[in-house]
Amino acid sequence: MGYADAVRGRFITFEGAEGVGKTTQITRAAAHLRARGIEPLVTREPGGTPLAEKLRALVLEPGQGAVGATAELLIMFAARASHVTDVIRPALEAGRCVLCDRFTDATEAYQGGGRGVEPDWIRALAGIAHPGLLPDLTIVFDAPAEVARARISTRGFGEDRIEAEDTAFFERVRRAYLAIAAREPKRVQVVDATRPEAAVAASVAVLLDAVVAGMDR
Ligand code: TMP
Repeated sequence: MGYADAVRGRFITFEGAEGVGKTTQITRAAAHLRARGIEPLVTREPGGTPLAEKLRALVLEPGQGAVGATAELLIMFAARASHVTDVIRPALEAGRCVLCDRFTDATEAYQGGGRGVEPDWIRALAGIAHPGLLPDLTIVFDAPAEVARARISTRGFGEDRIEAEDTAFFERVRRAYLAIAAREPKRVQVVDATRPEAAVAASVAVLLDAVVAGMDR
């Protein structure tokens, strides 16, 4: 049982490498919930509070000089601690449905899978930043790294520091997400993001309906 069940809200996270259509799908997911009479709180990581948005800009903008894997890891968790304390937990305690664009699975995929950071460090920091808080549902939008990279390069705005990594990095990120899904098949659902947008949205809607069933409106 996710933390959110105990407090009536629902915590739903959206994951996957960049270029898989995740942001579009979150917008569609929010519209789907509204049509069912649920007004979700839509937020993102790193970000979601003024402090965490500043940390996001610092860690993602190119031109900050070297940002080592440990510094990157700690900035992600500093942003997360702010976001959980000031936004996510209060919303869940108020019974809201929180749709969050990335959470700790992203740290496991990018800093763990992508950069090779020790899994134990990530677990320890998660225990500090959000003790007892796990998503009720995590949707992983899955596509081969080449498909995702091709979409990034055609979308018309520049790459951030992490997006500038090579295809091998994004293959490791993808493998790490699939490993999380294999380890936690109840919480983490993989959706094939290579299908048309509407078909992906229909799969997401089925997952959302199951997790919000029984919520107070
Ligand atoms: P976005 O492009 O989906 O908004 O994600 C922002 C970037 O931050 C993306 O490249 C993934 C990266 N990221 C991490 O490396 N670790 C994390 O813990 C989070 C939340 C994001």
